[in-house]
Order: sequence, then C-alpha cells, then structure tokens
Amino acid sequence: MFIRFWQVLLAAVVVSAATPTRSVNRRQNAPSPKFVSTSDGHFSVNGAPLNFVGTNAYWLPTLNSDDDIDKTLASIAAAGVKVVRTWAFNDVETVPQNGTWFQLISNGTTSVNEGANGLKKLDTVLSLAEKHNLYVMLTLTNNWNPRPLLEGKNVTSRDITPGTGNQLPRNTLSNDYGGMDVYVRTFSDPLHDNFYTNQNILDKFLNYTTQVVKRYVNSPAVFAWELANDPRCNSTLPSTNGCTPQTITRWHATVAAHIKSVDPNHLVSSGNQGFLCVDCPKLFPPVTPPPPQTSASPGRRRAIKPLTKRGILEERRLSLKKSRELRKRDGVSGGISIRGRWTSTETRRQTGVNLGPSFDGSHGVDSQDILNIPDIGFGSAQLFPDQATYGPDDPNLSSFDNIVQQGNQWIQQQAAVGKLLGKPVSMNAFGLVTQSNAPAYVPFNSTQAPFAPDSGTPTASAPYGVTDQQRDQAYTTWLQTGLQSGLSGMIQYQWSQSGLTPSVGTNIVPATGGTTTTPVVPGTGVSPNDGYGIQGQGEDGAVQTIQQASQQFAQD
Ligand SMILES: *[C@@H]1O[C@H](CO)[C@@H](O)[C@H](O)[C@H]1NC(C)=O
Ligand SMILES: *[C@@H]1O[C@H](CO)[C@@H](O)[C@H](O)[C@H]1NC(C)=O
Ligand SMILES: *[C@@H]1O[C@H](CO)[C@@H](O)[C@H](O)[C@H]1NC(C)=O
Ligand SMILES: *[C@@H]1O[C@H](CO)[C@@H](O)[C@H](O)[C@H]1NC(C)=O
Ligand SMILES: *[C@@H]1O[C@H](CO)[C@@H](O)[C@H](O)[C@H]1NC(C)=O
Ligand SMILES: *[C@@H]1O[C@H](CO)[C@@H](O)[C@H](O)[C@H]1NC(C)=O
Ligand SMILES: *[C@@H]1O[C@H](CO)[C@@H](O)[C@H](O)[C@H]1NC(C)=O
Repeated sequence: MFIRFWQVLLAAVVVSAATPTRSVNRRQNAPSPKFVSTSDGHFSVNGAPLNFVGTNAYWLPTLNSDDDIDKTLASIAAAGVKVVRTWAFNDVETVPQNGTWFQLISNGTTSVNEGANGLKKLDTVLSLAEKHNLYVMLTLTNNWNPRPLLEGKNVTSRDITPGTGNQLPRNTLSNDYGGMDVYVRTFSDPLHDNFYTNQNILDKFLNYTTQVVKRYVNSPAVFAWELANDPRCNSTLPSTNGCTPQTITRWHATVAAHIKSVDPNHLVSSGNQGFLCVDCPKLFPPVTPPPPQTSASPGRRRAIKPLTKRGILEERRLSLKKSRELRKRDGVSGGISIRGRWTSTETRRQTGVNLGPSFDGSHGVDSQDILNIPDIGFGSAQLFPDQATYGPDDPNLSSFDNIVQQGNQWIQQQAAVGKLLGKPVSMNAFGLVTQSNAPAYVPFNSTQAPFAPDSGTPTASAPYGVTDQQRDQAYTTWLQTGLQSGLSGMIQYQWSQSGLTPSVGTNIVPATGGTTTTPVVPGTGVSPNDGYGIQGQGEDGAVQTIQQASQQFAQD
C-alpha cells in the first residue's frame, strides 16, 4: 500500500513525541468528589491522570425530553467518549413559544429562566452525564450570532433568507443561541468588541455567569467552564479599530478571575480557536528562561522554545522539503488533483514571509497570552479547515493531503504552546465537512448553507467536501497526532443522535431538511446538523474512529 507522506511524518512524530509516564490508576477507582484539576501539564482527577477523547453536542439542553438527553448521553458514553462539550447559554430577545431558553435579554435588562425549559434542562444534562460517567464542558457564550431576520419578532420559525423558505428553527445552528452580539445589540452600539470593553455589558455577562456557575459549583459532572466559543475581535458585526489581541486577553483575565471567585472547584478555559500572535507583546509573558520540561524519552530534558515567526517559517520550509524527498523516494511526481473548493475567504496559498491570519494576531486573539493567565487552567483550540487556514498549501499535494498535514502541524503547535507554559491543552472542536454533509454545512458567520442542494454549486464533478472515508482517515490521523504530541484532549465536532422526540417549533423536527412538519411522530427526530454531524452513511466509521482513539488515550 502506498504510504501517504503525512503517515510517514506521523511516524516521525511518534518517535520524538512526549509520552510521559502515567499511572495505571483509573477514574472509576477514585473517590468522589472527582473535580478535574491539573498537575505537571496534565489533567488529573484525585491524583490520577486524565486524557480523553470527547464530542460536541451544543444542542443537548434543547432536546424535548429527559429520555432523549439520557439516550444521547448513553450512546456518547458507549463510544468511549469521556467529555461532551455543550452550550450553557441560550439567549433570546423575546420569550419564544417553544423550546429551551436560558436568558431573556431585552429592554435594557436581563433575566434568567430557571424553569423547566430553562436551566432545569441543564440540570438534567449534568445529572444524567454523571449517571453515564461523563464530564461536561460548559461554554458560557458565543462569538457568533448572525442576526436573525424579522428582527427576532418571530423566533420559532424565521425566514432566514427572505423568500427562500429557508426556515431553520431557533437553536438548530450552533450560532443561533444568542451570545455576545445579543448583548452588544441590546446594550451598546453594534460593534462586536464592545462585548469585551463595555462595563455595563460586562456586568450583565458576569451576572449571567454567576447564576449559572454558582448553580453547579459542587457538580462532579462539570469538566470545566469555557468562557466563550471562538472569542475574537470581529463577528458578523465589525469591531472598533481599537480591538487588539490584548483587548481579548484582558477580558479573559477579568472573567476567569470572576468565575474562580464564584467556583473554586472547576477549571476555567478560554474556548478560543488557538489563533496565535507570534512575536507579539504579551500581557502575561512566559517566565524567561522557560523552566526545563521533562520530555518524551526518559532521561531527556530540553527547554521548550516559544513559537516564533522564524521558527514557524523554518518548520514550513522543512515540511515542504520532507514531502519533496518522500515523493522522490516513492517516485511520485507533482500535480495531484485538487478537490472541490473552500468557503474560507482567507488565501489558502500563502507564500513567502506571511504567517497568515491564524498566526499573526489578525483575528484579535493571542492564545498563548490567554493561556498564561493564572486563572486559565488549560488551553483550548479548534481545528476547522473549512473555516480557517493553518498554513500555506504545498502545490504538489492534493487539498486533502494539505489539510491533513496542516491539521497535524496545528495540533503540534498547540501542544507546544501548552508545554511552554506547563498547562494541558485540549482541542475542543475539530471537524471536516463531508460531501454528504455539504448541503447542511453552515459556516459560523452565516445562517444558511452555501451548498444547499438547490444552489446549483458545486458540481458533481467537483463536489464540496471530503468523502466519509477521507473524514475518517483525517480524524484518525489527527487523533493520533493529538495523542502523540501530548494534547490532553481531542473533542470531535459534532455528535449526531437519531430516534429523538420531535416537537413543533423546536430544533428537533422530523428529518425533512429542517422544515417543520406535522404531525410529528415520536422517535423520528434527528439532532441538528450544521454540516459536521456524523450521522448518515459514515456514522459507523466516525464513531469507530472515536472509539478506537478513546481506548488509546485512556491507555496512554
Ligand atoms: C419591553 O418593553 C415594552 C414596552 O414597555 C413592552 O411592551 C415589552 O413587552 C417589553 N418586552 C419584554 C420582552 O419584556
Ligand atoms: C412566523 O413565521 C412563519 C413562517 O414565515 C409565518 O407563517 C407566521 O405567520 C409568522 N408568525 C408571526 C406571528 O409573524
Ligand atoms: C443579576 O441581575 C438581576 C436583575 O437584573 C438582579 O436582580 C440580580 O441581583 C443580579 N445578580 C447578580 C449576581 O448580580
Ligand atoms: C461575517 O459576515 C459579515 C456579513 O457577511 C461580514 O461583514 C463580516 O466581515 C464577517 N466577519 C468575519 C469575521 O468573517
Ligand atoms: C475585522 O473588522 C475590521 C473592521 O470592520 C476589518 O478591517 C478587518 O479586516 C476584520 N478582520 C477580520 C479578520 O475579519
Ligand atoms: C513541486 O514539484 C516540482 C516537481 O517535482 C518541484 O520542482 C517543486 O520544487 C515542487 N514544489 C514544492 C513547493 O515543493
Ligand atoms: C408550540 O408547541 C405547541 C405544541 O406544544 C404547538 O401547538 C404550537 O404550534 C407551537 N408553536 C409554534 C410557534 O410552533
């Protein structure tokens, strides 16, 4: 069998990877409380190390019955998953007729819904997670909330693109749970970074945060608090000219300290995508010289160097060189066919001296600076090649090989930042859009799928997305790279669940492409799919991939 070059690179990683010795002590032997803490750059529970494979299910608290939540968590646990990441926010601007909501943000005030369709739903998620021996990573707000049209006046069924009949019920998409922009639109001028700097907005957000965090201070099912999904300077709303990575870092320091003051039991993480600002001035500079770190092979010690522009460019040069050598060895010439197309607006072919937006601070995020905030317990990153660019393409490789390879490097870079600062890092969301999922794929900054079946593009000869088999191959490779480079957690995005209870006006409706139909038949509901769900044809493959990796993470 022809060995792909990234498999060879991976083998090289295996040899040099950090594989710290871990005790065989397992979590089930550990007495309660089993709060997760960190020590020596790893997660631990009662002194035993914890490494995990996880999955995302942002919609968990919106399911229509407790049985459905139970069923979903049972199938997640059966796949060997240890951590499930979900939304602990659900902001509305008017009280909806149907479905879950947590906070009303309206008329200059906020109020929390503690009722059966409010935080009691989250109570259920946590108690059932405990039953299934799962941890839950709880995210407190979202960077993204493209404004629903109809000005929120019709919040259960909205014509998201006027005239197209595209009516995704509220909470179907991960970016349709309120979030930062609802605060911004309600309490200030519509500039996204007001969320980070406006004192009134901060007070309101901390108020919500206090109420949710306080509720679960003693819950052993909470893995950690994540401040926000993908916080950055811009959203659908632009930012002021004044927003810099330090704006976002300062906000993290304030909110993390606040959460720690309310809940000293649980870890706090950022939730950012891992974007770097190499060589940028830091608010929380690493101790220099960096403390010596124990490395992979026993007896070997070396100082971990911070990522620099020079270092990253050199790494890219070596990667091109290596792949040239491998092709030469295997007698493969250049000119491999390029698949599909990408919605990412960033240039995929960066050349020369530009590091690109994932490394140069242009997203307004310096994840290294954020990770070094004392109250931030571990690093979080994301990997979405359909939405961001992690390096220049090698023109002699297929797009698929490029994304796998760039994903590997991104994972290794995130692990390196963690090692530099002596904190664990978890890839809190990673995913690839498949061809069968392309019609459902909705980018975070959008409300509709760009490749819906009726849009006429892309063509049958150049379909958008990878095959199910390629997805499984990429996930397997990334999970291995995560394990071998020393990441402590890898959380796939996202889970799918069938056999659910549908209900009119909610995001669980009969599987008819998102439209609400009556009558609803119990057991026919499918969880929302924003293009990353692992349901359908490839379900077995993707779940198997997760299952195998979970076993390896647990044994490592
Ligand atoms: C906001 O205030 C207006 C006018 O006082 C009132 O009619 C409306 O019901 C309020 N909206 C909410 C959601 O409380
Ligand atoms: C809400 O939207 C649906 C679909 O566009 C429409 O049929 C319904 O009349 C609207 N309801 C209100 C109160 O505007
Ligand atoms: C949050 O806001 C509500 C109403 O706006 C207020 O009654 C409550 O005291 C605030 N809670 C905290 C913890 O600040
Ligand atoms: C999000 O979409 C809006 C509207 O299309 C656009 O103006 C904005 O620049 C986008 N933001 C980002 C960060 O891509
Ligand atoms: C963010 O918004 C500003 C101002 O609207 C724009 O100049 C900049 O290009 C945007 N950055 C990104 C990464 O979208
Ligand atoms: C691509 O392949 C050609 C032919 O083997 C080679 O000359 C060229 O240097 C390669 N480009 C890169 C960036 O490796
Ligand atoms: C809300 O649910 C009820 C049944 O529980 C249904 O009769 C009603 O039509 C729903 N409302 C909307 C706006 O979908």
